[in-house]
Amino acid sequence: MNNIIVSGMRPTGNLHLGNYFGALKNFIALQEKENCFFFIADYHSLTTHPNPKDLKQKVKTILAQYLACGLNPEKATIYLQSQLPQISELYMFLNMNIYLGELERVTSFKEKVRQHPNNVNAGLLTYPSLMAADIIIHKATHVPVGKDQEQHLELTRTFAKRFNTMYGVNYFPEPVAYNFENLIKIPSLNGEGKMGKSKGENNAIFFVDEPNMLRKKIMKTKTDSGPVEKNSKKSQEVENIFTLLKLVSDTQTVKDFETLYDDCTIRYGDLKNQLAIDMEKFIAPVRERVKEIENNEEFMVKILKDGAEKALISAKKTIKEVRDIIGFWI
Ligand code: TRP
Repeated sequence: MNNIIVSGMRPTGNLHLGNYFGALKNFIALQEKENCFFFIADYHSLTTHPNPKDLKQKVKTILAQYLACGLNPEKATIYLQSQLPQISELYMFLNMNIYLGELERVTSFKEKVRQHPNNVNAGLLTYPSLMAADIIIHKATHVPVGKDQEQHLELTRTFAKRFNTMYGVNYFPEPVAYNFENLIKIPSLNGEGKMGKSKGENNAIFFVDEPNMLRKKIMKTKTDSGPVEKNSKKSQEVENIFTLLKLVSDTQTVKDFETLYDDCTIRYGDLKNQLAIDMEKFIAPVRERVKEIENNEEFMVKILKDGAEKALISAKKTIKEVRDIIGFWI
């Protein structure tokens, strides 16, 4: 329990299977054994100028869904980034020693500039400074992030080290990536690439999908004309269906369908039907829990207040010490 883990979750909308088997399952395992801080990155989301109603709604949605999936406020510290003004204070301090050139070279920034040339704001440019502040405010040692965030984490180390060197202290640890165990790549339902929202709502399975919708999505997935030779290699489309089946069905069921495939007697309709049944069993409890939580705003507020209270202990301590190191008078 010596590791301090910090990770932020962007309030982007409904969670899908890809999110769950990507990062979330690992968060749920981590909270059992490490000192975890998980927060909703609502400051970061201001770079895209959400309207106030949407911002609130998105935060509620993501909180309810993370909790329903199994993030546990009794095990991890779960909070809202904007409840910790110390993060923005540290962000400002860090920015004094972060250079335009190094921020302009960040891949995610360049990508955003290409996508939205009319909204290249300072918040976007300094996204890595804010992310560094999120992490080092708790003197984190590890950050469970995927490949797309590696450059941001590298910069976090650079900024932490810079602070230490500048003031001749050994204050901030240099946080490293916490590598996810058993990362399963979840295929998109249309067979092209990973499951993700950008591929279209119909190509992802969401935890809020109602039974009919779920079944429809699964029954529509592509297959091929069927195996003609015994023990033949599966096409990508069929492989994808098996990948999903392995996530939600018991091993015997998967084995039975593997055998049918190898014998060339498989009926894809049956395979999809089984997948639809088992997927509904997997999704249903989470979907119902999401509804329960969403209808209980008091419960969500309480979790965020308690979480902030815990997170504020280390955030306040860090800021007090940092102010002292920097040399503020009183
Ligand atoms: N940048 C992360 C993402 O896009 C979200 C994030 C913000 C984060 N602050 C963080 C992740 C701190 C880990 C640690 O998903």
